Amino acid sequence: MSPLRSHRSRKTNTERVRVDIITLFPDSCRVPLGESMMGRAQTAGALTLQVHNLRDWTGDRHHVVDDAPFGGGPGMVMKPEPIFAAVESLRTEASTVILMTPQGRPFSQKMAREFSTAEHLIVICGHYEGVDHRVTEHLVDAEISIGDYVLTNGAIAAVVFVDAVVRLLPGVLGHEQSAAEDSFAGDLLEGPHYTRPADFRGWKVPDILLSGHHAEIAAWRKREAQRRTRENRPDLAGDL
Ligand code: ADE
Repeated sequence: MSPLRSHRSRKTNTERVRVDIITLFPDSCRVPLGESMMGRAQTAGALTLQVHNLRDWTGDRHHVVDDAPFGGGPGMVMKPEPIFAAVESLRTEASTVILMTPQGRPFSQKMAREFSTAEHLIVICGHYEGVDHRVTEHLVDAEISIGDYVLTNGAIAAVVFVDAVVRLLPGVLGHEQSAAEDSFAGDLLEGPHYTRPADFRGWKVPDILLSGHHAEIAAWRKREAQRRTRENRPDLAGDL
């Protein structure tokens, strides 16, 4: 099943993608997403990224974004009003609204590929004990978790999500092959890679990689990828 309730794809592959992140910690997103590949995606015109402070959509003097949970219990819950106001001011007909939460569906390379065709992604970062459930029910198209652990700050999860999606946009990776050969692009993990020196502290690069026999190198890489998948991800290995 698609992770999306609704999903508007870009009309052409070269159209610029817009991503808006709504967070209590804008710098946690701006710094990592401004570096390297993500920075290049923005300067190359593949991406328009904006990071917003949720507190800008509060109406009170203290910019309150959370409150105690109805029914009692520990921690605080993020209030619905600022989140609705933020999304409603940013969204268009073409927007897909995502909530980063450990209660979401597990993020995967397949989902990254699906989201990489979107026209406009609005990513809400959860914090505290959670987000008022009316946000999930009435505002959000997809709830996404980046793994079975709890972060203090959904902004970090948003960075992971946006990085995985944006690197799949056309022209973002320098070497067009590299996304196709990634782990999870097929159903195997990538095999090992080596570079110079051929002998490092007595640990030698496998002879086959220096042999120039392309077919044998390809077969070796496949065997190594299978071995690594069996060892590290038996859940993916099946009958290998
Ligand atoms: N916020 C806190 N933990 C998270 C997780 N594992 N995935 C997404 N958002 C989160």
